[in-house]
Amino acid sequence: NPEQGFEGAMPEISLTVNGEQVTKSVEGRTLLVEFIRETLKLTGTHIGCDTSQCGACTVHLNGQAVKSCTMLAAQADGAEITTIEGLAPEGQLNPMQKAFNDHHGLQCGFCTPGMVMRAMTLVKDNPTPTEADVRHGLEGNICRCTGYQNIVAAVLDGAKALRG
Ligand code: FES
Ligand code: FES
Repeated sequence: NPEQGFEGAMPEISLTVNGEQVTKSVEGRTLLVEFIRETLKLTGTHIGCDTSQCGACTVHLNGQAVKSCTMLAAQADGAEITTIEGLAPEGQLNPMQKAFNDHHGLQCGFCTPGMVMRAMTLVKDNPTPTEADVRHGLEGNICRCTGYQNIVAAVLDGAKALRG
């Protein structure tokens, strides 16, 4: 509780990350993405820019896709976070990850965790997206390698797989 801390103490935050309860001290200026990568060692969430544009840092916060470089860890106090590591049990792929694999929706892979996390919320909000819907939905995620065609195909197929 920040109010009870003595001067210089770091506030504690409690949140759920990939289904597990986490309580940690954080410095007030720590970004959520830094907390995820450095404190929790969940390095599947990437940092690809310092301008909030690339989307490589996308995670789910209370079920919504957010760019975790755009908020402070302290602002996630009490929230439920899912990172790419939380999408499937270790060693397995979620249907959307499998679709990226099947459609060669990645080359260097740097953008992929953010793309997949964004794709998951896109498909949750719209289970039957058109190609235009997918392109529009992924506008906040930059890929420097693929030219997007295979990513769009992957998301369309992943949507189908998730519809079952
Ligand atoms: Fe967050 Fe690029 S690192 S948008
Ligand atoms: Fe390299 Fe997207 S696969 S940035």
